[in-house]
Amino acid sequence: MTRPDKHDPATVAEATWAVHGGNEPDAGTGALRRPLIMANSYLLPDDPSELDWSNPGRMIYTRTSGANQQALETKLAALEGGDAAIAFASGVGALHAVFFSQLRSGDHVLVSDVSYEAVWRLFTELLPQRYGIEATFVDVADLDAVRAAFRPNTRLVHAETIANPTTKVADVAALAALAHQHGVLLTIDNTFTPPSLYRPLADGADLVIHSLTKFINGHGDAMGGAVIGGADLVRRVRADSLSDLGAVISPFNAWLILRGSVTLPLRLRQHLANAQKVAEFLASDARIAFVAYPGLASHPQHELAVRQFEGRGFGGVLAFAVDGDTALQNRFVAALRVITSAVSLGHDETLIVHVGPSGRGGAEHYPEHFQRYGHLRLSVGLEDADDLIADLSGALDEVLPSPVQSTT
Ligand SMILES: Cc1ncc(COP(=O)(O)O)c(C=O)c1O
Repeated sequence: MTRPDKHDPATVAEATWAVHGGNEPDAGTGALRRPLIMANSYLLPDDPSELDWSNPGRMIYTRTSGANQQALETKLAALEGGDAAIAFASGVGALHAVFFSQLRSGDHVLVSDVSYEAVWRLFTELLPQRYGIEATFVDVADLDAVRAAFRPNTRLVHAETIANPTTKVADVAALAALAHQHGVLLTIDNTFTPPSLYRPLADGADLVIHSLTKFINGHGDAMGGAVIGGADLVRRVRADSLSDLGAVISPFNAWLILRGSVTLPLRLRQHLANAQKVAEFLASDARIAFVAYPGLASHPQHELAVRQFEGRGFGGVLAFAVDGDTALQNRFVAALRVITSAVSLGHDETLIVHVGPSGRGGAEHYPEHFQRYGHLRLSVGLEDADDLIADLSGALDEVLPSPVQSTT
């Protein structure tokens, strides 16, 4: 039997690596936690004259690498099963870094027709209009449609494992096979399904992107992003898109996220269990117009989700609507007493955001019921699930009292 070594992720389980990965006792003080190193510059080697300043391969200047940033990268690379990782200032910084480093004018990209809003705008406006990059938005749940959408100049396929906000599930292994048949990259935004729920690299994705702001930090107090994958690809992203675009994570945020991620496996289990319970409650109430959550048998990719996530769970985010108009959705949210109306997801506290029928770029690609009612995106937190259900139920009673049952 291999002896577990907390410094070697290959020998330990994920929960052990989540605790120890990237952490080292401080050599100067003996403190057990890696200290926060607030430094812009590091000592240069004796002869710095030939250094590659964009990709120096050592700590020189915090815009290319700093101590806390490096520790977080070490931890994230092994968590996702990649060779290397880069930490960024935000998830959007990480997404942009990938597209900027991999695409050239005249290239074509296949993008899931349900993608995070910033990705939508990058590929509908900014990259086509300013840089001549073409994009086709494709339903990644329809593999024939994906197959038919490749062009000779296609360079990359991009999707979210579970898409924000409709919860469409991408079949990563199938998309990887298609992308690789055409000799192009598959990039997967795995923000909704971090390890240990799912590792897209193991199913053939080439680069994984995270908003660390969400589940991986988990405490709603620091923003960050990450790109993880094979050594060569990650090196290219670093050389082209970290030093010279500058979306570097601050040492303090890297330190906070390293600390937050210690409890990721533990927290994730609670997010998943709570989300499943809340989704089942909402689906059972006739006052709810629809619930989109891959853990419900009614979800169009439920079987794929069971297979792909191997029964570990279905994420902590769901979308639903109360059976009523925009004003009713607002009154429902206002009536909640535990759940907070705010954007973001993956925080310890449960957050809800009301998005109207056409409130997001690309909403015309959403299922019909999203277009009719708009949606409430619910990021289910770590509170007691029964409290969350009682809060939702109480708010429903306030805005849509159930028909009074006759007692005679
Ligand atoms: C799936 C997904 N990717 C990326 C992002 C962007 O992350 P950040 O806000 O850290 O830039 C978000 C934010 O909500 C997201 O939901």
